[in-house]
Amino acid sequence: MQETRLDTARIRAARRVIDPMFLDTPLYRCEALEPRLGCAVSIKLETANPVRSFKARGTEVVASRLSDDGSQAVVCASAGNLGQALAWSGRGRGLDVTVVASRFATRAKLDRIRALDARLELVDGDHELARERAAAIARHENIRLVEDSLDIETCEGAATIGLELLELVDSEPSFDAVLIALGGGALATGVGHVVKALAPEVEVICVQPLGAPALTHSWRQRRVVTTDSVDTIADGVAGRFPIPAVLDDLLLVADDAVLVQEASIIAGMRMLFDHAGLVVEPSAALGVAAVLEDRDRFAGRHVAIIVCGSNVDVDAFHHWVGAAVHSPW
Ligand SMILES: Cc1ncc(COP(=O)(O)O)c(C=O)c1O
Repeated sequence: MQETRLDTARIRAARRVIDPMFLDTPLYRCEALEPRLGCAVSIKLETANPVRSFKARGTEVVASRLSDDGSQAVVCASAGNLGQALAWSGRGRGLDVTVVASRFATRAKLDRIRALDARLELVDGDHELARERAAAIARHENIRLVEDSLDIETCEGAATIGLELLELVDSEPSFDAVLIALGGGALATGVGHVVKALAPEVEVICVQPLGAPALTHSWRQRRVVTTDSVDTIADGVAGRFPIPAVLDDLLLVADDAVLVQEASIIAGMRMLFDHAGLVVEPSAALGVAAVLEDRDRFAGRHVAIIVCGSNVDVDAFHHWVGAAVHSPW
């Protein structure tokens, strides 16, 4: 039988080193969304913290272990949210943080990384080129490279969301499916592991954009499938080269992996704004998009949706949400 890299006891231990500011995030029924989505909806809100995404759960674990080891510096590649989170967690522990990102990354994310005193290096290509450059810096400067989703701390940190989804409920969880945005896979493997360990009857459904489908294709074919390009507004989940060890973990915990269209992501953002009062980035609307595209599947059920980030350029947000005025939803 295939072994997972994840361990529930280690995830509980990880929870103890994360700044409480990032923990125990709101989990609530969002009744205003329910008539529109045709099912009961619980939101797990991961945007109301200093870095506006769940990624600090993982970087808190990384940074606390680095400072325990006496490390001085760390580097990562990021589409923006991991970098911002590592900058925050590293700053508080006196670590020199370098973030490598694409120069085409969301401006708000790049600005916030700089504002947190990290060194930001931009590459003239996409996220995969940023990953190569970060690895080269780590080798050259002999410092720790944080690889999102490959480094187990990033998965364990994200997995603490799963503990909160399940441990706050007294008996059986009230929801029967959890919808998880799928990028590199830290969030889905982490939360998926906890869900399958504590409430295996709950369906774990990963959601990716049709325009960035590499890990979903890999999950379906049970082997790593790469793509030549990405084409999506959901920048937080737009990778091309899935990591084999992460795919192995994902195969053990995901019940399904679905792909959604850009129009549905935009409709999801607009719905979350209109009916939940939430400004979210595209990646955080993937769960709503998945329900919109397959209402029959979810009709009458209760889904938990992790609203995982809100780092979005204001102009782009207005453009997307304003443009969706005539959406049928
Ligand atoms: C807002 C947001 N949602 C979802 C994801 C995907 O998470 P993961 O890469 O852990 O699969 C990311 C990744 O950075 C993100 O920033």
